[in-house]
Amino acid sequence: MLTNKRILLIIGGGIAAFKSLDLIRRLRDQGATVTPVLTKAAEEFVTPLSASALAAEKVYRDLFDLTDEAEMGHIELSRAADLVVVAPATADLMAKMAHGHANDLASTLLMATDKRVLIAPAMNVRMWEHPATQRNLATLQSDGVLVVGPDEGNMACGEFGPGRMSEVPDIVAAVDAALSDGPLKGKHVLVTSGPTHEPIDPVRYIANRSSGAQGTAIAAALRDLGASVRFVTGPASVPPPAGVEVVRVETAAEMAAAVDAAPHPTDAAVFAAAVADWRVENASGSKMKKDGSGNAPALEFAENVDILASVSKRTEGRPSLVVGFAAETDDVVANATAKRTRKGCDWIVANDVSPETGIMGGAENRIVLISQDGAEEWPRLGKDEVARRLASRIGEALTA
Ligand code: CTP
Repeated sequence: MLTNKRILLIIGGGIAAFKSLDLIRRLRDQGATVTPVLTKAAEEFVTPLSASALAAEKVYRDLFDLTDEAEMGHIELSRAADLVVVAPATADLMAKMAHGHANDLASTLLMATDKRVLIAPAMNVRMWEHPATQRNLATLQSDGVLVVGPDEGNMACGEFGPGRMSEVPDIVAAVDAALSDGPLKGKHVLVTSGPTHEPIDPVRYIANRSSGAQGTAIAAALRDLGASVRFVTGPASVPPPAGVEVVRVETAAEMAAAVDAAPHPTDAAVFAAAVADWRVENASGSKMKKDGSGNAPALEFAENVDILASVSKRTEGRPSLVVGFAAETDDVVANATAKRTRKGCDWIVANDVSPETGIMGGAENRIVLISQDGAEEWPRLGKDEVARRLASRIGEALTA
């Protein structure tokens, strides 16, 4: 059931738009409130009046209507929903979403929303199979967009193959799954991710090669299990996942402060960030200049607080599960096992970050999960799959 769930339904301009009218009815039958948004092209296929009559709600249209802005701005409209559904998602809408266009109401809402987005693609089979659409699909999926369909079958254009919009009951089931309560529903999880930047002067800093990909994937996987995720991220090269609370920081000290500011108690904390061990103590407030003498400036370092160790050793408000990472280049298991004891965390996710493994900054990871029960070697997997397996283990530990 979808009782009290609010769906923002963006109807794109395709022949399948007629099915979206039925979708409105079926979603309402399940108890949901549906606010329809029609693209200009959609109005060629269905009328605003029929969408509004079936939804028993005001329909938002791709006309820039000042009254709409006065009633409810596009930002608010995009966030008032629990889920944004795009059905039919045309090739054009998918391209706009993948490339971040915001040149009409529908695409602007999709850019402005902080909620999850589910798309039901519908288009001609050649358009679906076109490399551009497949590239856009991959981009959207890696952005965390959920996808239902398309189905295979005879199409309105007379061709056969994948491209037909999913049947309404399948879309309703996908909406249900997207909004369902996962095993981590009600649990608060903190994830740190990405590198930190430690300034030398206003234009220079010391950084590391972490992309933030593994931490981002873990946050998304925990979110998918229903957790409320607070995502504290350094300047990563991958964007943060949708549907999590994002706190952006730059330095290790800022990351430590953001972790401490987290609402306690946190049920689990995952420290995937590659935090700088040292900061430049004599960082300059203005740009350092060559003085012509040929002498290089000497940097002095001070140790940063170890965030993982300080949270692990909390006497009050310690999360019931603390997971650290160990980036090692030698004796991975021995070093990581010692690190677990030294830092006082429950699990350590150890990985070999020697350059030849291609793990740091790459798409795959090969980890050893170290707990009090010993070391468990996982096969080399995509970072998303590592994240899913780790999130599911965290789920089991928290609900045991
Ligand atoms: N970590 C942290 N705060 C720091 C340094 C590290 O929270 N100031 C966390 C990382 O997020 C990671 C774990 O500690 O979960 C281990 O990081 P790693 O760089 O492997 O270990 P170090 O503590 O730096 O130890 P070493 O450099 O001796 O390997």
